[in-house]
Amino acid sequence: MEGPTEDHTGPMTSRRNPSNREREQSPAQAPKVEFEDTTPYDAYVRASTLATLQKTATDEPGEYMFLVLSQIMELYFNLLAFEWRTAQRFLREDRLGEALLALRRSKDHFTGLNASWTSFSWMTPPDFNSFREALGEASGFQSFLYRHIEFLLGFKDPALLRPHKHVAGNHYAELVAAFEAPSLYDDALAYLARQGYAVPQEMLDAETNSTHEWDEAIEDVWVQVYADNGHGSPLRELAESLTDIAQQFSDWRYWHLMAVRRSMGHKGGSGGSAGLAWLEKSLQREAFPELWSARTRI
Ligand code: HEM
Repeated sequence: MEGPTEDHTGPMTSRRNPSNREREQSPAQAPKVEFEDTTPYDAYVRASTLATLQKTATDEPGEYMFLVLSQIMELYFNLLAFEWRTAQRFLREDRLGEALLALRRSKDHFTGLNASWTSFSWMTPPDFNSFREALGEASGFQSFLYRHIEFLLGFKDPALLRPHKHVAGNHYAELVAAFEAPSLYDDALAYLARQGYAVPQEMLDAETNSTHEWDEAIEDVWVQVYADNGHGSPLRELAESLTDIAQQFSDWRYWHLMAVRRSMGHKGGSGGSAGLAWLEKSLQREAFPELWSARTRI
């Protein structure tokens, strides 16, 4: 019988993974500590590469934090895009249950993303000023991953493709594809149409390369969805999951705005905008507008 090993030699010399049963029987077994090459963890997670990506221009603690938090948020943007594309794929296949799972996961990720803003609450204007020059013209406005999630949410301003033309790799092509493809909302509405809801045909046939504008017929659709589907029903959950996403996206913008207000007041942005005033305008644009307006009538 192969029993648990008390020293480190057993698992190290054998490349066989222990079965779940063996793991269960070995409560005292210590982790393996010798590896012929890099650790399997690093080979998988690439932490050694990740740790080389924080190249600051100053020794200010605020700059290191700003860079790390920006990178964390970029990773979250990618994760959200992944979940929403997954949800879109399932919606197109009429697999609502799996689409809802992806949306529910994205809600949890968004909670983590928005919690990241707490790292900024200590930063006073002198702290920000101490490294601001080092940022040059760099601004989150130039984030192609953020723009990607905006496109997935149905905010599609063609001018916002332009900054990314020369970004290395395939990212520009992917961004253009997301700009032209249906948004998450478009796919949700197409799904509702297939369930018999009165989404106007011209909307289903329209090109998907412009910002979704509020539409009375779509408001009627959501009013009907809430009337037909009680708590716990999948279509009600679809409506509520999309509302969660829209709200969490607004929350992200709000927390960003407060970090800006707190650390630089009304100074102009490094990306060339008026700063706070420009961000306040962008905060007013709502994702999935009919899901909000319908609430007055429900
Ligand atoms: C105290 C910290 C921060 C300040 C003072 C700040 C400042 C600004 C300003 C002034 C703008 C307007 C555009 C411009 O630069 O002229 C902007 C836009 C933006 N920032 Fe930040 N930012 C901060 C942190 C972050 C972080 C951590 C991220 C995460 C990646 C981020 C992402 C963005 C994005 C995506 C936009 C464009 C928003 C839109 O298009 O509506 N910012 N930021």
